Amino acid sequence: MENAFHLSGWPGRRRHLPGLVAAAALLWFSPARAADPTPEQVDQGREVYAEFCATCHGRDMVNAGGFAFDLRTFPRADLDRFRSSVLNGKGQGMPAWRDKLADDDLTVLWAYIRSGGNN
Ligand code: HEC
Repeated sequence: MENAFHLSGWPGRRRHLPGLVAAAALLWFSPARAADPTPEQVDQGREVYAEFCATCHGRDMVNAGGFAFDLRTFPRADLDRFRSSVLNGKGQGMPAWRDKLADDDLTVLWAYIRSGGNN
């Protein structure tokens, strides 16, 4: 019975299978994947955005006047810059949100902004 795999005709392949399954599971649960925003976060982010940011940055991030930064073009890998600009403000026009937004708000806003806005 212990030689069942050999009798099946492809001993080599069978032996690799557990390794492949483990690798696939690792990929699935990798930190990069866990950090992907969920649709719920994007939705919540859209609400926070509409309340606090849309007045200047435009509805759905579509920016008519060109006075504020077009957030659809914000570099999506740069969470540090996002966090710092939002918490501390920037330039003449961008207020600091440090006292108004919780960490959770920032997380869902970031999810929304990385989504590109129109989904
Ligand atoms: C009162 C108008 C106003 C509001 C409200 C506002 N912003 Fe801004 N925002 C600006 C302006 C103006 C700039 C451009 C600042 C500059 O580069 O000088 C800017 C720039 C930014 C940038 C780019 C900063 C960078 O690193 O270049 C981000 C990100 C941003 N805003 C996010 C937000 C978020 C998120 C909200 C809501 C919590 C928000 N803003 C609300 C006016 C506003």
